[in-house]
Amino acid sequence: MLLKSALLALSATLAAAVPTLEAKDNYFVNPATGNRFQIVGVAYQPGGSAGYKPQEGFDPLSRKDHCLRDAALMQILGVNTIRVYNLSPDLNHDECASIFNAAGIYMLLDVNSPLVGESLTDFNTWESYYASYLNRTFAVVEAFKSYPNTLAFFSGNEVISNIPSAGVVPPYVRAVTRDLKNYIAKHSTRPIPVGYSAADVRDVLFDSFNYFQCREEGVDNDMSHADLFALNSYSWCGNSTFEKSGYDKLVAGFKGSSVPVFYSEYGCNDVTPRPFTEVSAIYGPQMTDTFSGGVVYEYVQERNNYGLVEIDEKDGSVKILTDFYTFRDQLANLDFTQIQGAKPPSGDPPKAPVCDSKLITTKGFNGNFTLPEVPPGAPEIIAKGVSPKPVGKLVDISNYKVTFSVKNPDDSSLTNLEVKPIANDGINQPGSNTAEGTTPTGTSAAPAASSSKAAAGRQATAFVFPAVAMGAFAFAAGITI
Ligand SMILES: *[C@@H]1O[C@H](CO)[C@@H](O)[C@H](O)[C@H]1NC(C)=O
Ligand SMILES: *[C@@H]1O[C@H](CO)[C@@H](O)[C@H](O)[C@H]1NC(C)=O
Ligand SMILES: *[C@@H]1O[C@H](CO)[C@@H](O)[C@H](O)[C@H]1NC(C)=O
Repeated sequence: MLLKSALLALSATLAAAVPTLEAKDNYFVNPATGNRFQIVGVAYQPGGSAGYKPQEGFDPLSRKDHCLRDAALMQILGVNTIRVYNLSPDLNHDECASIFNAAGIYMLLDVNSPLVGESLTDFNTWESYYASYLNRTFAVVEAFKSYPNTLAFFSGNEVISNIPSAGVVPPYVRAVTRDLKNYIAKHSTRPIPVGYSAADVRDVLFDSFNYFQCREEGVDNDMSHADLFALNSYSWCGNSTFEKSGYDKLVAGFKGSSVPVFYSEYGCNDVTPRPFTEVSAIYGPQMTDTFSGGVVYEYVQERNNYGLVEIDEKDGSVKILTDFYTFRDQLANLDFTQIQGAKPPSGDPPKAPVCDSKLITTKGFNGNFTLPEVPPGAPEIIAKGVSPKPVGKLVDISNYKVTFSVKNPDDSSLTNLEVKPIANDGINQPGSNTAEGTTPTGTSAAPAASSSKAAAGRQATAFVFPAVAMGAFAFAAGITI
């Protein structure tokens, strides 16, 4: 029993956590250090959007063994964030959230789902904005607000995709953002940013951006302006360039943003295999002043052919695809010490423009900044909280070993695959987990790095926890920002 309690005491000290981050002015920052944070993300949608079937008892963050497998592979990939689209507030996510936290990986979460009544519609939008819809979005907040690795919530995804939708949707997305922010202010112990994930349709992109980032004149505590702006952009295909891809126009358009801007999806697959050469642009000097990184689309292979791994849903086994290693190698070429160690520039941060129909440049885009009232029944939910209230909390994970078979593109196997817990206040980065059997860095088809700073960047202050009775409490290298 003595041994058992000693181990319990030990495991209590193992409850390491990523630092909670904030959206401050136009950047994500670690409030403890003041350092900026760049999202190095991957979209995590096992089974695709059609695979969201909460009635069958699971969603992407409810199955411990699946999350262990995927978190271990994402550590190898070198990402620090997942984007998860479809979550049920009524399932338990404690193990998966704890696993991703231990792996040093944040979560960007959509509060909506494609099911009827669980998202705003892009026509007759007023018909989809009602109390039980909002209740569901608040329930997602309740379910995830207590995890330290919850990075932000998306109040909508691509609800505006053309002029007709731009004519009706904007006030409703801004209203949902307002309602979520009011809910979080009242019921969360820390601020969690809320914002919109836009389709990169250039006709409506910058109007959407300004519509959501602006501040209402004369309103002291305007809760309706977004805390961030994200876009799903597929304009860099193959070996493109900053100019050819139109990334230059995005940077010009978002320069001076008052909120963090990032890609909530990227990774055009018009040219395959994908070289992922946009990675060096996204995290390079032309973009990082304006952008806070991005989320590559996507982890699991679906029919649309964007996947980095293929999952056999029947037995849970994984086949790694060549794009996985190409993407890993592009990330490994970056200098993360520099990227995650940057401070926001000194001086006054950019200010949000005042909301005014003059901000809107495209004919047909809704320039009405008088938002719809909170629908009947919803003010009570905002005041009292969702009932019954889903509760999320970190739990101890006693075993980080992956139980499924994982194979390389050439069919060789990865062995002893496991999540390597990151040190407290650490964040995952390339090199944290080099499982046996992975293809060595630099041997994939990725074009060579233009510099060799990367190697130094990868050697973060690793330390190994003294081996204890049951062994294998090795802490991986985690960067502290
Ligand atoms: C609000 O959400 C909770 C959690 O999902 C659910 O149990 C409850 O029935 C919902 N209430 C309303 C009024 O929709
Ligand atoms: C603007 O929106 C508000 C709220 O939906 C509505 O009451 C008002 O009539 C709209 N104004 C115009 C000019 O359309
Ligand atoms: C992209 O560039 C790399 C390195 O220069 C080259 O090996 C590869 O063939 C190019 N791919 C395409 C599709 O042009």
